[in-house]
Amino acid sequence: MATVLALSSSPSRSSRSAAVAEYAVTALRSGGVDANHLRLRELDPGPLLAADTTHPEIESAVRAVADADGILLATPTYKAAYSGLLKVFLDLLSQFAFAGKAVLPIATGGSPAHVLSLDYGLRPVVHSLGAWHVLQSLFVLDSQLDEALRPGEQLRSTLEGVLGDFTHALRTPSRTATIARSA
Ligand SMILES: Cc1cc2nc3c(=O)[nH]c(=O)nc-3n(C[C@H](O)[C@H](O)[C@H](O)COP(=O)(O)O)c2cc1C
Repeated sequence: MATVLALSSSPSRSSRSAAVAEYAVTALRSGGVDANHLRLRELDPGPLLAADTTHPEIESAVRAVADADGILLATPTYKAAYSGLLKVFLDLLSQFAFAGKAVLPIATGGSPAHVLSLDYGLRPVVHSLGAWHVLQSLFVLDSQLDEALRPGEQLRSTLEGVLGDFTHALRTPSRTATIARSA
């Protein structure tokens, strides 16, 4: 069974981007994917900021990345960029930590003016971490979530397509071949 790790990266307790990640994880599970959600805000901040990969929580998070076939990166848009929390975590990963993996970037944001921010900010970093396939980024407007942070009908339909593409990428033979070559 394909495995996905969703990394949500908002410092906010009631996070829109984490809610989208959680919705995606539930949908992926119902499609037969072994998906889990790690909220980076729950990691011990001292070792995280110090990039202490020997700390058990950080070590376990890094191992979860290594063990996953696919990574879903969920971030809020802050000042037309992805969150600092995500940057801190990506910075402690090894150079090719995403080798052989499919990666789906998702951001929530308040302004459609910033839909490009994932592609000029996050996508190059994900490529440089060796991702096998970076899927089309998804920018979710705050207005597409209701007060309980549930996706509205249009977003649910968009997510169905996006997650279908993600699941398809996880199961393609070329991904398996890439892993075999790098093993
Ligand atoms: C400090 C700060 C900066 C923000 N900057 C932007 C921005 O540049 N572009 C944008 O579209 N939304 C911006 N927003 C809105 C958030 O991206 C949006 O509300 C997002 O859904 C928050 O996600 P979260 O609840 O997971 O933290 C900003 C919000 C905050 C608090």
